[in-house]
Amino acid sequence: MPVTVAKRALLPCLLLAVVGAHAATETITPPALIASRQGIAHPAVIAHRGASFDAPESTAAAYTLARDLGADYLEMDLQRTHDGELIALHDNSLLRTTDVANKFPARKNQPASAFTLAELKTLDAGSWFNKAYPDRARPSYVGLPILTLDEIIDIAQSNPGHTPGLYIETKEPQLFPGIEHDLKRKLTQRGLLPPQPDRPGQVILQTFDKSSLQLLQKEMPDTPKVLLLWVGAGGMTPDKSVSFADSGEKTKAAYYASLHPKDKTEFTQWLDFAKANGAIGTGPSAALTHGGDQSYSDLIQPWMNTTAHARGLLVHAYTLDEPVDFKKAMTAGVNGIFTNRPRELLNYYQRVTAQTVKQVLEQNGY
Ligand code: G3P
Ligand code: CA
Repeated sequence: MPVTVAKRALLPCLLLAVVGAHAATETITPPALIASRQGIAHPAVIAHRGASFDAPESTAAAYTLARDLGADYLEMDLQRTHDGELIALHDNSLLRTTDVANKFPARKNQPASAFTLAELKTLDAGSWFNKAYPDRARPSYVGLPILTLDEIIDIAQSNPGHTPGLYIETKEPQLFPGIEHDLKRKLTQRGLLPPQPDRPGQVILQTFDKSSLQLLQKEMPDTPKVLLLWVGAGGMTPDKSVSFADSGEKTKAAYYASLHPKDKTEFTQWLDFAKANGAIGTGPSAALTHGGDQSYSDLIQPWMNTTAHARGLLVHAYTLDEPVDFKKAMTAGVNGIFTNRPRELLNYYQRVTAQTVKQVLEQNGY
Protein backbone atom coordinates (compact mmCIF):
# COMPACT_ATOMS: atom_id res chain seq x y z
CA MET A 1 0.00 0.00 0.00
CA PRO A 2 1.42 3.42 -0.96
CA VAL A 3 2.38 5.68 1.90
CA THR A 4 0.45 8.96 1.94
CA VAL A 5 2.30 12.27 1.88
CA ALA A 6 1.37 12.94 5.47
CA LYS A 7 2.63 9.52 6.53
CA ARG A 8 5.81 9.98 4.48
CA ALA A 9 6.45 13.22 6.35
CA LEU A 10 5.96 11.44 9.66
CA LEU A 11 8.15 8.46 8.86
CA PRO A 12 11.57 10.02 9.54
CA CYS A 13 10.24 11.42 12.81
CA LEU A 14 8.90 8.03 13.84
CA LEU A 15 12.19 6.38 12.96
CA LEU A 16 14.10 8.97 14.94
CA ALA A 17 11.75 8.48 17.86
CA VAL A 18 12.24 4.72 17.72
CA VAL A 19 16.03 5.08 17.45
CA GLY A 20 15.95 7.69 20.19
CA ALA A 21 13.85 5.51 22.46
CA HIS A 22 16.15 2.58 21.78
CA ALA A 23 19.24 4.65 22.56
CA ALA A 24 17.57 5.87 25.73
CA THR A 25 16.74 2.34 26.89
CA GLU A 26 20.33 1.36 26.20
CA THR A 27 21.84 4.12 28.28
CA ILE A 28 19.32 4.83 31.03
CA THR A 29 18.48 1.94 33.33
CA PRO A 30 15.00 2.38 34.81
CA PRO A 31 15.27 3.25 38.53
CA ALA A 32 12.94 0.39 39.45
CA LEU A 33 15.37 -2.03 37.84
CA ILE A 34 18.37 -0.47 39.60
CA ALA A 35 16.52 -0.84 42.89
CA SER A 36 15.48 -4.40 42.14
CA ARG A 37 19.06 -5.44 41.32
CA GLN A 38 20.13 -4.07 44.70
CA GLY A 39 17.24 -5.65 46.56
CA ILE A 40 15.96 -2.20 47.50
CA ALA A 41 12.19 -1.71 47.70
CA HIS A 42 10.85 0.60 45.03
CA PRO A 43 9.52 2.97 46.09
CA ALA A 44 11.22 2.62 49.46
CA VAL A 45 9.73 3.43 52.86
CA ILE A 46 12.56 4.66 55.10
CA ALA A 47 11.55 5.19 58.72
CA HIS A 48 13.39 8.35 59.75
CA ARG A 49 14.88 7.81 63.23
CA GLY A 50 12.25 5.06 63.45
CA ALA A 51 8.54 5.90 63.42
CA SER A 52 9.50 9.15 65.11
CA PHE A 53 6.24 11.03 64.70
CA ASP A 54 4.54 8.65 67.13
CA ALA A 55 7.40 7.70 69.46
CA PRO A 56 10.62 9.30 70.70
CA GLU A 57 13.15 9.37 67.87
CA SER A 58 15.89 6.73 67.73
CA THR A 59 14.46 4.72 70.65
CA ALA A 60 13.25 1.13 70.80
CA ALA A 61 9.63 2.37 70.77
CA ALA A 62 10.19 4.17 67.46
CA TYR A 63 12.21 1.39 65.81
CA THR A 64 9.97 -1.51 66.85
CA LEU A 65 6.94 0.48 65.70
CA ALA A 66 8.51 1.14 62.28
CA ARG A 67 9.55 -2.51 61.98
CA ASP A 68 6.14 -3.90 62.86
CA LEU A 69 4.27 -1.47 60.63
CA GLY A 70 6.35 -2.86 57.76
CA ALA A 71 8.85 -0.09 56.93
CA ASP A 72 11.53 -1.17 54.46
CA TYR A 73 14.35 0.54 56.37
CA LEU A 74 15.16 1.78 59.85
CA GLU A 75 17.06 5.05 59.45
CA MET A 76 19.63 6.17 62.00
CA ASP A 77 22.33 8.76 62.62
CA LEU A 78 25.54 7.14 63.76
CA GLN A 79 27.80 8.64 66.42
CA ARG A 80 30.54 7.20 68.66
CA THR A 81 30.77 7.35 72.43
CA HIS A 82 33.88 8.32 74.36
CA ASP A 83 34.65 4.64 74.86
CA GLY A 84 34.20 3.74 71.21
CA GLU A 85 30.65 2.34 71.05
CA LEU A 86 28.49 3.10 68.04
CA ILE A 87 25.16 4.69 68.95
CA ALA A 88 22.17 6.23 67.16
CA LEU A 89 21.63 9.89 67.93
CA HIS A 90 20.79 12.80 65.65
CA ASP A 91 22.07 15.86 67.49
CA ASN A 92 25.62 16.29 68.76
CA SER A 93 24.13 17.87 71.83
CA LEU A 94 22.15 15.81 74.31
CA LEU A 95 20.04 18.75 75.45
CA ARG A 96 17.05 18.44 73.10
CA THR A 97 16.29 14.75 73.50
CA THR A 98 17.58 13.76 76.94
CA ASP A 99 17.66 14.87 80.57
CA VAL A 100 21.41 15.46 80.50
CA ALA A 101 20.86 18.86 82.15
CA ASN A 102 19.49 17.07 85.24
CA LYS A 103 21.80 14.08 85.34
CA PHE A 104 25.06 15.79 84.35
CA PRO A 105 24.47 19.54 84.91
CA ALA A 106 28.14 20.43 84.78
CA ARG A 107 28.59 18.58 81.49
CA LYS A 108 25.25 19.34 79.87
CA ASN A 109 26.79 21.26 76.97
CA GLN A 110 29.28 18.57 76.11
CA PRO A 111 28.62 16.52 72.98
CA ALA A 112 27.44 12.93 73.21
CA SER A 113 30.91 11.84 72.17
CA ALA A 114 32.30 13.12 75.48
CA PHE A 115 30.24 10.54 77.41
CA THR A 116 30.82 6.81 77.84
CA LEU A 117 28.12 4.39 76.83
CA ALA A 118 27.44 3.63 80.50
CA GLU A 119 26.90 7.34 81.17
CA LEU A 120 24.65 7.77 78.13
CA LYS A 121 22.62 4.74 79.18
CA THR A 122 21.62 6.54 82.40
CA LEU A 123 19.86 9.25 80.36
CA ASP A 124 16.11 9.43 79.69
CA ALA A 125 15.66 9.82 75.92
CA GLY A 126 11.87 9.55 76.01
CA SER A 127 10.39 12.15 78.37
CA TRP A 128 11.23 15.12 76.13
CA PHE A 129 8.80 13.67 73.56
CA ASN A 130 5.92 13.61 76.04
CA LYS A 131 6.51 17.28 76.85
CA ALA A 132 6.92 18.31 73.20
CA TYR A 133 3.94 16.30 71.91
CA PRO A 134 1.40 15.84 74.72
CA ASP A 135 -1.21 14.50 72.29
CA ARG A 136 1.11 11.59 71.46
CA ALA A 137 2.62 11.16 74.93
CA ARG A 138 2.73 7.76 76.65
CA PRO A 139 3.87 7.01 80.20
CA SER A 140 5.92 4.10 78.82
CA TYR A 141 8.16 6.51 76.90
CA VAL A 142 9.58 7.87 80.15
CA GLY A 143 13.11 6.59 80.67
CA LEU A 144 13.67 5.09 77.21
CA PRO A 145 17.41 4.81 76.67
CA ILE A 146 19.69 5.83 73.82
CA LEU A 147 20.38 2.76 71.65
CA THR A 148 23.56 1.25 70.28
CA LEU A 149 23.81 0.13 66.67
CA ASP A 150 23.94 -3.43 67.99
CA GLU A 151 20.59 -2.96 69.72
CA ILE A 152 18.99 -1.55 66.57
CA ILE A 153 20.29 -4.52 64.57
CA ASP A 154 18.72 -6.78 67.21
CA ILE A 155 15.41 -4.93 66.79
CA ALA A 156 15.55 -5.21 62.99
CA GLN A 157 16.17 -8.95 63.25
CA SER A 158 13.71 -9.87 65.96
CA ASN A 159 10.40 -9.94 64.09
CA PRO A 160 10.37 -13.26 62.22
CA GLY A 161 7.73 -11.91 59.83
CA HIS A 162 9.61 -8.83 58.67
CA THR A 163 13.27 -7.87 58.82
CA PRO A 164 13.67 -4.26 57.74
CA GLY A 165 16.96 -3.06 56.32
CA LEU A 166 19.24 -0.53 57.98
CA TYR A 167 19.83 2.92 56.49
CA ILE A 168 22.85 4.23 58.38
CA GLU A 169 24.13 7.81 58.25
CA THR A 170 27.60 8.81 59.33
CA LYS A 171 26.56 11.95 61.22
CA GLU A 172 29.15 14.74 61.27
CA PRO A 173 31.84 12.18 60.46
CA GLN A 174 34.64 14.74 60.72
CA LEU A 175 34.07 14.54 64.49
CA PHE A 176 34.58 10.77 64.47
CA PRO A 177 37.73 9.88 62.57
CA GLY A 178 37.69 6.21 61.59
CA ILE A 179 33.94 5.74 62.16
CA GLU A 180 33.59 4.24 58.68
CA HIS A 181 36.05 1.51 59.68
CA ASP A 182 34.32 0.98 63.02
CA LEU A 183 31.03 0.57 61.16
CA LYS A 184 32.54 -1.95 58.80
CA ARG A 185 33.87 -3.96 61.75
CA LYS A 186 30.48 -3.98 63.48
CA LEU A 187 28.53 -4.91 60.35
CA THR A 188 30.97 -7.70 59.64
CA GLN A 189 30.73 -8.97 63.21
CA ARG A 190 26.94 -9.00 62.86
CA GLY A 191 26.98 -10.93 59.58
CA LEU A 192 25.74 -7.96 57.54
CA LEU A 193 28.98 -7.77 55.58
CA PRO A 194 29.68 -8.86 52.98
CA PRO A 195 26.16 -8.13 51.67
CA GLN A 196 24.01 -11.21 51.16
CA PRO A 197 23.68 -12.00 47.42
CA ASP A 198 19.89 -12.32 47.73
CA ARG A 199 19.58 -8.99 49.56
CA PRO A 200 22.51 -6.71 48.70
CA GLY A 201 20.53 -3.64 49.76
CA GLN A 202 19.83 -4.83 53.31
CA VAL A 203 22.18 -2.12 54.54
CA ILE A 204 22.40 1.29 52.87
CA LEU A 205 25.05 3.77 53.97
CA GLN A 206 24.32 7.49 53.74
CA THR A 207 26.24 10.68 54.35
CA PHE A 208 26.20 14.40 53.60
CA ASP A 209 29.99 14.40 53.71
CA LYS A 210 31.91 13.80 50.49
CA SER A 211 35.01 12.60 52.33
CA SER A 212 32.96 10.14 54.34
CA LEU A 213 31.40 8.80 51.13
CA GLN A 214 34.89 8.11 49.84
CA LEU A 215 35.85 6.37 53.08
CA LEU A 216 32.65 4.32 53.10
CA GLN A 217 33.37 3.30 49.51
CA LYS A 218 36.92 2.31 50.45
CA GLU A 219 35.82 0.30 53.48
CA MET A 220 32.62 -1.23 52.07
CA PRO A 221 32.74 -1.09 48.27
CA ASP A 222 29.91 -3.60 47.81
CA THR A 223 27.42 -1.99 50.19
CA PRO A 224 25.00 0.49 48.59
CA LYS A 225 25.69 4.12 49.41
CA VAL A 226 23.67 7.33 49.12
CA LEU A 227 25.04 10.88 49.08
CA LEU A 228 22.69 13.21 50.94
CA LEU A 229 22.08 16.57 49.26
CA TRP A 230 21.63 19.90 50.93
CA VAL A 231 21.98 23.58 50.03
CA GLY A 232 24.16 25.57 52.40
CA ALA A 233 27.10 24.98 54.75
CA GLY A 234 28.76 21.68 53.93
CA GLY A 235 26.48 21.18 50.94
CA MET A 236 25.75 22.79 47.62
CA THR A 237 26.69 26.43 47.17
CA PRO A 238 23.46 28.49 47.26
CA ASP A 239 22.43 31.06 44.69
CA LYS A 240 22.58 33.79 47.33
CA SER A 241 24.58 34.16 50.51
CA VAL A 242 22.25 35.51 53.13
CA SER A 243 21.78 34.23 56.64
CA PHE A 244 18.37 33.36 58.07
CA ALA A 245 18.61 36.40 60.37
CA ASP A 246 19.24 38.75 57.44
CA SER A 247 16.84 37.06 55.03
CA GLY A 248 13.65 38.68 56.31
CA GLU A 249 11.92 35.29 56.18
CA LYS A 250 9.64 34.49 59.10
CA THR A 251 10.48 30.81 59.42
CA LYS A 252 13.47 28.61 58.76
CA ALA A 253 11.32 26.61 56.32
CA ALA A 254 10.60 29.74 54.26
CA TYR A 255 14.29 30.66 54.38
CA TYR A 256 15.41 27.22 53.19
CA ALA A 257 12.71 27.19 50.48
CA SER A 258 14.18 30.43 49.15
CA LEU A 259 17.63 28.83 48.74
CA HIS A 260 18.56 27.04 45.52
CA PRO A 261 21.77 25.57 44.21
CA LYS A 262 23.92 28.27 42.63
CA ASP A 263 23.24 26.87 39.16
CA LYS A 264 22.57 23.62 37.34
CA THR A 265 26.27 22.83 37.19
CA GLU A 266 26.52 23.03 40.97
CA PHE A 267 23.72 20.50 41.28
CA THR A 268 25.04 18.11 38.65
CA GLN A 269 28.57 18.25 40.06
CA TRP A 270 27.27 16.74 43.29
CA LEU A 271 25.57 13.95 41.35
CA ASP A 272 28.73 13.32 39.36
CA PHE A 273 30.73 13.16 42.59
CA ALA A 274 28.23 10.71 44.05
CA LYS A 275 28.38 8.49 41.00
CA ALA A 276 32.17 8.64 40.73
CA ASN A 277 32.55 7.62 44.36
CA GLY A 278 30.34 4.58 44.38
CA ALA A 279 26.93 5.94 45.37
CA ILE A 280 23.89 4.15 44.01
CA GLY A 281 21.68 7.11 44.77
CA THR A 282 21.21 10.53 46.25
CA GLY A 283 19.17 11.71 49.23
CA PRO A 284 17.93 15.23 48.45
CA SER A 285 16.11 17.58 50.80
CA ALA A 286 12.55 18.67 50.07
CA ALA A 287 10.41 21.70 50.84
CA LEU A 288 7.24 20.68 52.68
CA THR A 289 3.82 22.08 51.83
CA HIS A 290 3.09 22.99 55.42
CA GLY A 291 6.64 23.95 56.40
CA GLY A 292 7.96 22.85 59.77
CA ASP A 293 11.43 22.17 61.08
CA GLN A 294 12.18 19.41 58.56
CA SER A 295 11.33 21.55 55.52
CA TYR A 296 14.40 22.48 53.51
CA SER A 297 15.41 23.46 49.97
CA ASP A 298 13.49 21.86 47.14
CA LEU A 299 16.01 19.50 45.57
CA ILE A 300 13.44 17.11 44.09
CA GLN A 301 12.32 19.11 41.09
CA PRO A 302 11.61 16.84 38.12
CA TRP A 303 14.72 17.95 36.18
CA MET A 304 16.86 17.17 39.21
CA ASN A 305 15.46 13.64 39.47
CA THR A 306 15.81 13.10 35.73
CA THR A 307 19.41 14.22 35.94
CA ALA A 308 20.04 11.68 38.71
CA HIS A 309 18.27 8.91 36.81
CA ALA A 310 20.30 9.67 33.69
CA ARG A 311 23.37 8.83 35.78
CA GLY A 312 21.84 5.60 37.03
CA LEU A 313 21.23 7.04 40.50
CA LEU A 314 18.18 6.39 42.67
CA VAL A 315 16.58 9.32 44.51
CA HIS A 316 15.46 8.98 48.16
CA ALA A 317 14.02 12.29 49.42
CA TYR A 318 13.95 13.50 53.05
CA THR A 319 11.78 13.97 55.21
CA LEU A 320 8.11 13.80 54.18
CA ASP A 321 5.12 12.94 56.35
CA GLU A 322 1.99 14.03 54.52
CA PRO A 323 0.13 12.59 51.51
CA VAL A 324 0.25 15.97 49.75
CA ASP A 325 4.05 15.85 49.87
CA PHE A 326 4.24 12.12 49.05
CA LYS A 327 2.24 12.85 45.92
CA LYS A 328 4.40 15.82 44.89
CA ALA A 329 7.58 13.83 45.40
CA MET A 330 6.38 10.73 43.56
CA THR A 331 5.05 12.85 40.69
CA ALA A 332 8.45 14.53 40.50
CA GLY A 333 10.07 11.12 40.11
CA VAL A 334 11.64 10.14 43.43
CA ASN A 335 12.24 6.46 44.19
CA GLY A 336 11.82 6.39 47.94
CA ILE A 337 11.04 8.63 50.89
CA PHE A 338 12.40 9.16 54.37
CA THR A 339 9.42 9.60 56.65
CA ASN A 340 8.66 9.97 60.35
CA ARG A 341 5.26 8.36 59.60
CA PRO A 342 5.90 5.04 57.85
CA ARG A 343 2.27 3.92 58.20
CA GLU A 344 1.07 6.99 56.29
CA LEU A 345 3.59 6.36 53.52
CA LEU A 346 2.89 2.61 53.34
CA ASN A 347 -0.80 3.39 53.02
CA TYR A 348 -0.08 6.00 50.36
CA TYR A 349 1.77 3.31 48.39
CA GLN A 350 -1.27 1.05 48.93
CA ARG A 351 0.80 -1.30 51.06
CA VAL A 352 -1.97 -1.28 53.60
CA THR A 353 -0.95 -1.97 57.18
CA ALA A 354 -3.41 -4.13 59.07
CA GLN A 355 -2.65 -2.66 62.47
CA THR A 356 -2.93 0.89 63.72
CA VAL A 357 -0.04 2.74 65.35
CA LYS A 358 -1.81 2.42 68.70
CA GLN A 359 -2.23 -1.35 68.31
CA VAL A 360 1.42 -1.90 67.42
CA LEU A 361 2.66 0.31 70.25
CA GLU A 362 0.49 -1.55 72.76
CA GLN A 363 1.49 -4.94 71.37
CA ASN A 364 5.12 -3.90 71.91
CA GLY A 365 4.46 -2.87 75.49
CA TYR A 366 4.30 0.91 75.07
O1 G3P B 1 19.48 11.02 56.56
C1 G3P B 1 18.46 11.62 55.84
C2 G3P B 1 17.88 12.63 56.70
O2 G3P B 1 17.77 12.03 57.93
C3 G3P B 1 18.80 13.79 56.76
O3 G3P B 1 18.42 14.67 57.70
O4 G3P B 1 19.20 15.85 59.66
O5 G3P B 1 17.39 14.16 59.84
O6 G3P B 1 19.71 13.44 59.48
P1 G3P B 1 18.70 14.50 59.25
CA1 CA C 1 19.70 11.12 59.10
